[in-house]
Amino acid sequence: MSTPVFSDEIRARLEVDAKEIIARYPRERSALLPLLHLVQAEEGFVSTKGIRFCADQLGLTTAEVTAVVTFYTMYKRRPTGEYHVGVCTNTLCAVMGGDEIFSALKDHLGVGNDQATDDGKVSVEHIECNAACDFAPVVMVNWEFFDNQTPESAKRLVDDLRLGKDVTPTRGPDRLCTWKEASRVLAGFPDGRATEGPQAGEPSLTGLRLARERGWTAPDPANLPAKDAQEGGATS
Ligand code: FES
Repeated sequence: MSTPVFSDEIRARLEVDAKEIIARYPRERSALLPLLHLVQAEEGFVSTKGIRFCADQLGLTTAEVTAVVTFYTMYKRRPTGEYHVGVCTNTLCAVMGGDEIFSALKDHLGVGNDQATDDGKVSVEHIECNAACDFAPVVMVNWEFFDNQTPESAKRLVDDLRLGKDVTPTRGPDRLCTWKEASRVLAGFPDGRATEGPQAGEPSLTGLRLARERGWTAPDPANLPAKDAQEGGATS
């Protein structure tokens, strides 16, 4: 049985974007990760058609492309919701309530990990540390932050998303984009909104404020012993 492929119309459109992406790299195969985001932006996940397309563009085998798709969890092999909800269950968020939030959302939505609701609106996944531990427990929707969540606030959030209500992330742009739109940005086609909205919250800025008040500054790498300088100036 032959591998399914995109229609001529979709393929022609994707090839224009793929050409632009590939031109950014000295070696064609280095463009694989953004190309996978590109096909994910088309279908909402990386299908067999998407894998075939990427392999054809880059002169790779479908086995090589599949190996990459299945390694990185940001690529989905089955349809996600229009809003993909990631609940951080890494250590700090987990003990601060992330495990309870994840469990509450699965029960509330009637889905398992990485599954979408029947209406296709919301999918939920447990994810690793989002580097936002100072706002634990955090939830992300299409990679935008919702800080200091509880099981109740997270359930309200997914209900609002399913009802099509306006939902505003704690930080970042005031309007959520869809999963497909977010995938297109990750493919390297910015939507111009990266600097919209609050970029940092008070907990992240507290260290900076304390350092300024107390006159603390980072050590000058030129004055560090060679070993510390190699480690980026970290001192005990
Ligand atoms: S542990 Fe959840 S953001 Fe770091």
